[in-house]
Amino acid sequence: MDNTPKILIVDDEENIRRIFKKALEKKNYVVHTAPNAEDALRKIKNQDYFLVFSDIFMDGMSGLDLLKEVKETTPQVKVVVMTAQDTMNNTIEAMRMGAYDYISKPFDFDTIYALVDRAESSRGMEAPPQPDTVLEVDEFSVESIIGKSKKMQDIFKTIGKSATSDLAVLITGESGTGKEMVAGAMHYYSSHKDRPFVCINCAAISRELLESELFGHEKGSFTGAVEQKKGKFEIANGGTLFLDEIGDMELPLQAKILRVLQTKDFYRVGGKEALEANVRIIAATNQNLEELMEQKHFREDLFHRLNVIHIFMPPLRDRPEDLTLLANHFLRMYATGLSQGQVYLAPESIRIFNSYSWRGNIRELENVIKRAVVLAGSGPILPEHLPDHLVEAGSQLVEADGRFENRLNRLIREYLAQNQETQDGHIYDNLVQSLEKQLFKIMLDKHFGKQVSVAKALGINRNTLKRKIDAMKIEIKKHKNNE
Ligand SMILES: Nc1ncnc2c1ncn2[C@@H]1O[C@H](COP(=O)(O)OP(=O)(O)OP(=O)(O)O)[C@@H](O)[C@H]1O
Ligand SMILES: [Mg+2]
Repeated sequence: MDNTPKILIVDDEENIRRIFKKALEKKNYVVHTAPNAEDALRKIKNQDYFLVFSDIFMDGMSGLDLLKEVKETTPQVKVVVMTAQDTMNNTIEAMRMGAYDYISKPFDFDTIYALVDRAESSRGMEAPPQPDTVLEVDEFSVESIIGKSKKMQDIFKTIGKSATSDLAVLITGESGTGKEMVAGAMHYYSSHKDRPFVCINCAAISRELLESELFGHEKGSFTGAVEQKKGKFEIANGGTLFLDEIGDMELPLQAKILRVLQTKDFYRVGGKEALEANVRIIAATNQNLEELMEQKHFREDLFHRLNVIHIFMPPLRDRPEDLTLLANHFLRMYATGLSQGQVYLAPESIRIFNSYSWRGNIRELENVIKRAVVLAGSGPILPEHLPDHLVEAGSQLVEADGRFENRLNRLIREYLAQNQETQDGHIYDNLVQSLEKQLFKIMLDKHFGKQVSVAKALGINRNTLKRKIDAMKIEIKKHKNNE
């Protein structure tokens, strides 16, 4: 029998099937194709595929239905779900249902080859646990966690993969990056979504009160405790307890939380009876817990108990791809009445957005848009509708980029004039690019690969620099002191 590993491609588009087949055959796999899920299921029954790539949206059975069926009947077959419309729901749902991975168009074959390699080397290994139910996702209230950047897509995958487990989660990231939103999504996609999702902000409540808020208290246990009161652990029973701003919790209370995580029970303040702590814990903080641990302000053992699944929310400035997407999302959200469908971002405003550094992250963006929609009424959102500090920061950088380009252009013209070269536009553009690339390489080396320093030295915006470096595919060497 032929032992060449077999792969099946399921897509209603002939083109996609052909491209995938060709690309994977090049790597010596036997590749079969199916134009719909029904045909795919028949083939999977008769052939021993180790990997199936399936589109989501097809006539008849969808790719997610196919995934479910495969996980039930032939769980050893790994299924990679692929789609053009990457929405958070699909990514999370596919991973939750046990997809091996999730890829979105445009496809990058280097990534796909790496994925196939990985799948092949783990052949025969245990299939991931499958959920007992398929969720109806449409009623999800925080449905739209926006993000098409790789960083956000990876977060959606993590949410999906960990949805059926009750492991503790730690979400870190700067203020306004969406930590609470992700915590909500993790609850929603879990098997206990019908149980409570209870939040408590550990920074907003005084130490004395926090303990009784968390664990509840018995009548008369302290002055003012006139009645017995349930704590958040009890209220969240069977659901999720979201400990927000955990970095601000004081040490004695940290010890108590650690104890609950270890023993799975707790006492109300002044209580003698141990109550069962049947909750999933998700903790979040915008503080640097490593630093707090060094300073002995955060318990290391608690950190490890919480940090079973870690999600780092990247700051907005590190995912420029998501910026306009988010801005338009908030436009739709806040534009009401007259302005609905009429209001849009003027290109100058988009440019300012791209060069601003968004310390308040998505919350700041949301507030800027909320205000701009009111000021703009209906029609484009212009720089005059944006806060002054934003426009100033933006225009300085836009000007600086302009100056840099002028300088570069002048140098090149001088060079060309001296060398009597052709002024042909095409050659000229190529030359600019290759000079720019050289310049960036030299500067990156000189600055130990630190893009921030290079941008500063060249007087250009770091987002512009990053975009150009990405576009030119400049490889940044790792430097020891590049931290
Ligand atoms: N990816 C996203 N898509 C759409 N809206 C988002 C996204 N991320 C965050 N938001 C919105 O931005 C605001 C801030 O998000 P959230 O409260 O979850 O941030 P946070 O990290 O908990 O912030 P903080 O540390 O200040 O508590 C919210 O209004 C949220 O709805
Ligand atoms: Mg928060």
